[in-house]
Amino acid sequence: MKQIKRTIIAEALKRTDIGAEVNIKGWVRTKRGNKNVNFIALNDGSTIKNMQVVVDLAKIDEQLLKAVTTGACLSVNGILAESLGQGQTTEIQATEIDVLGKADETYPLQKKGHSLEKLREIAHLRPRTNTFGAVFRIRHNMAIAIHTFFHQKGFYYFHTPLITGSDCEGAGQMFQVTTMDLNNLKRTEDGKLDFSEDFFGKPTSLTVSGQLEGELAATSLGAIYTFGPTFRAENSNTPRHLAEFWMIEPEVAFNDITDNMDLAEEFIKFCVKWALDNCADDLQFLNDMFDKELIARLQGVLKDSFVRLAYTEGVKILEEAVKNGHKFEFPVYWGVDLASEHERYLVEEHFKRPVILTDYPKEIKAFYMKQNEDGKTVRAMDVLFPKIGEIIGGSEREADYDKLLARIQELNIPMKDMWWYLDTRKYGSCPHSGFGLGFERLMLFVTGMQNIRDVIPFPRTPKNAEF
Ligand code: 4AD
Ligand code: MG
Repeated sequence: MKQIKRTIIAEALKRTDIGAEVNIKGWVRTKRGNKNVNFIALNDGSTIKNMQVVVDLAKIDEQLLKAVTTGACLSVNGILAESLGQGQTTEIQATEIDVLGKADETYPLQKKGHSLEKLREIAHLRPRTNTFGAVFRIRHNMAIAIHTFFHQKGFYYFHTPLITGSDCEGAGQMFQVTTMDLNNLKRTEDGKLDFSEDFFGKPTSLTVSGQLEGELAATSLGAIYTFGPTFRAENSNTPRHLAEFWMIEPEVAFNDITDNMDLAEEFIKFCVKWALDNCADDLQFLNDMFDKELIARLQGVLKDSFVRLAYTEGVKILEEAVKNGHKFEFPVYWGVDLASEHERYLVEEHFKRPVILTDYPKEIKAFYMKQNEDGKTVRAMDVLFPKIGEIIGGSEREADYDKLLARIQELNIPMKDMWWYLDTRKYGSCPHSGFGLGFERLMLFVTGMQNIRDVIPFPRTPKNAEF
């Protein structure tokens, strides 16, 4: 085969030098035609669009074409031509075809459509479908948007450890990390497990959040963000929970809760606008296939300012709704940790735009949040989104050493795990705030997908760690 430098299909579709000799490589989506001419739709992942390869059977060996089946990998040399077909600008008139990798009739992604549930069982192949190609290209774009946003604002990307000895959220939903022989565990004299023999010499876990170390960084570098995997051993089999998910956690010295809300709103809007500006083809596909209101919903979020409301006011609205006959699955009263149905009622039914709920009861929030004067609430903020419910959780942090220490003791958090964190309040303490955005929750919103298992390549959920 003649050596020609490869052009990716996204580029080849835009080229205007009709008549040029080109090479493309990719996987066969479909082949159709008659005994004179065949049309092969080739996709290389660079775009949702396929390149049409036109094969004149007088020029290409028919025997070779037998191996050109759905899923096979091809290298194609040919002449770039203007396409007369709808929805494409160029096509390739093949001069030479090389089958790099065959795919026989057992290839699971034959032409017929598959349900998203079925595709989860073949997560190793699903990126080759239009849907998952679109989702993962958007996922990449969202990551770039996030780094761009913070870099432009002068934040530093700070790397926090994944293995930790402390439980940031205090919810006890951590995966243990150990090299101890689980079939032969040593115990101390009082019958407890002997962690002195373990790899780190003490109990350790996978982190649920990079926030605590993020605060160390914010109170020295000024403004930082983390962006990495986090792990939660919560046994919630819902369309919005993963055991391994990615989180973005900005933390800013001298920001109060209002600055924090402003940052969160600007940040999400930047990401949504980035998707609209950079992922038009993929969004259009998802809009047409799954959710006819997707693009309108994304544009809507850019237009409106987010409602800002105290938890207490939010609960009043929900109680009023119950009084007027609205049925929720879970009860609602002051002090309850709101369920996603409550959050979505506020956003979708009542206000019809995103809501930032603030000043939650301290009992349902983490130890590090700034305590309000009322003695009952903390300066927390959750950003609630249509279709999703909570997309961001954050707060102003308790900057007062004594108040923070008192709360740590009240909650029986082991002090030996926390000494380094308390040092931020001991030496040059300052007001500061931050939040965590669940990357996959953002992905759910931006793609319109219904299940969080469909916006991460290889989901980890209870009883599922395949691939
Ligand atoms: O509200 P969370 O638990 O807050 C924190 O972890 C804080 N340390 C953040 C901070 O202030 N720096 O989690 C933050 C966000 C949630 O709003 C949600 O979007 C996402 O992380 N999240 C999950 N996403 C997928 N699966 C799970 N199991 C999640 N748990 C939380
Ligand atoms: Mg939360």
